Amino acid sequence: MKAQRRPADRRSDCAPPLLCTIDGFPNAMTIMLEGHRPSRMPFFERLAAMPHSAAGDPSFLGQIHLIYQSAMHATRAAVYYLPHLDSPALRKRKLRIFVDDDGLPGGDTHHYQLTRALRNIGAECVLQDEEFGDPEELCRYLDGETAYFVSIARKLYSRSLGPWCAVETMSVDWMRALAEALSVHFPQFKHEPYFEECFSHMVEERHAAEAIEVTQMILRARPELLADTLRDAKTIAEALDGVWTQLDRLVQRATATALPARAGAQHSIRCGSVRAATALLP
Ligand SMILES: [Fe+2]
Repeated sequence: MKAQRRPADRRSDCAPPLLCTIDGFPNAMTIMLEGHRPSRMPFFERLAAMPHSAAGDPSFLGQIHLIYQSAMHATRAAVYYLPHLDSPALRKRKLRIFVDDDGLPGGDTHHYQLTRALRNIGAECVLQDEEFGDPEELCRYLDGETAYFVSIARKLYSRSLGPWCAVETMSVDWMRALAEALSVHFPQFKHEPYFEECFSHMVEERHAAEAIEVTQMILRARPELLADTLRDAKTIAEALDGVWTQLDRLVQRATATALPARAGAQHSIRCGSVRAATALLP
């Protein structure tokens, strides 16, 4: 008789090898990160499927902005603390990535672009752009998984290159998933510069390839860093899963609140109270 497999055994199927060769590092990262691919998380599908009236609620969109921008901010700020990339040639490569986030033409940044994208669909932002600063202070406005993610991002980024590789590798996936999900409700959303400039120039694909290549180069010189690099990559990937989980709870709450209201609206129509009903329809 075949032995029953325990959940822990099943988990180990998609767990990364604890050690791999330096040559095998890109492949080991791909395999590990496939288990954390953001678009597999229910948040994106539920966001697309939620009632339009709930998706368009300014305070709901403001919460989406707060959580998503906080997670993005944490990584954009943490990338300035990356270790091991101190030679002139590596500083130049690092700088190109900084510029893609914070040196856009006309003094623009990826952060400002994201805020504009969400404001343009009606988000009432909880924090103004310049209020995204020190991670500890930012955590005062956050809770749950996002607070955890923000609190560990700098620590992880500053001790190994693994978290940077993980985030850069996964970012195009979650950006596409978010653009598609919100564009179900706001068709112009995916055409916002935050998304379109990134997708058309394959910015995140380039960042992913660059992060892996640079990290592999560092590992060739310092193979003793390999295990920590993989471990930290896994840690941030798990923490990022938590951010999508928290966003998913937000969507589920907003949907649950909207559905009874919609049912009430339909009942009102049947009862002839059109005025009460139209206020609630999408
Ligand atoms: Fe990037």
